[in-house]
Amino acid sequence: MNADAIQLVDSFPDAATYRRLRVEAGLSPKTQEAAERGLANTLYGVSLVKAGNVIGMGRVIGDNGTVFVIVDIAVRPDHQGQGQGRRIMAALDAWLRANAPVSAYVMLIADGEARHLYCRFGFVETAPASVSMAYVANGPRGP
Ligand SMILES: CC(C)(COP(=O)(O)OP(=O)(O)OC[C@H]1O[C@@H](n2cnc3c(N)ncnc32)[C@H](O)[C@@H]1OP(=O)(O)O)[C@@H](O)C(=O)NCCC(=O)NCCS
Repeated sequence: MNADAIQLVDSFPDAATYRRLRVEAGLSPKTQEAAERGLANTLYGVSLVKAGNVIGMGRVIGDNGTVFVIVDIAVRPDHQGQGQGRRIMAALDAWLRANAPVSAYVMLIADGEARHLYCRFGFVETAPASVSMAYVANGPRGP
């Protein structure tokens, strides 16, 4: 096999790899405890693997019936802009098409320009009718 080939694998990285890749991609850090508890509840996840190293990931979480959420989409910076994010989303989209029941709500929070990627898979912005609201546990909260 070509050593430069990037394979899409039908499983999500372990907690340590997940934590490292999030930070490498510029996403917020997660504690080991948060990662271990959270990843155990993944409905479906994929990894992009190059020469044994994980260079991309994405997963679906939710209640597996009414609500599905796409999270942790990340591609290592040295592989961005080469269609790898699209590969991850295509795999998650195929799984959702096969597994999400009619009427289920499929959502995600798009950071910055990543929304261009999600538009390609049929996601539409919910604002102004609905906006996402959030805080980070044990971090600063709004008023
Ligand atoms: C967002 C991210 C996953 C996209 O992965 P990628 O491999 O760079 O994206 P791709 O090369 O597959 O691009 C897919 C499409 O989205 C568009 N796109 C992706 N990122 C973009 C950006 N920053 N600005 C404009 N368009 C962008 C591409 O132009 C491309 O469009 P096309 O289908 O017309 O060619 C990746 O840049 C990343 O990991 N970013 C840091 C972490 C992050 O922000 N994750 C998303 C959290 S919501």
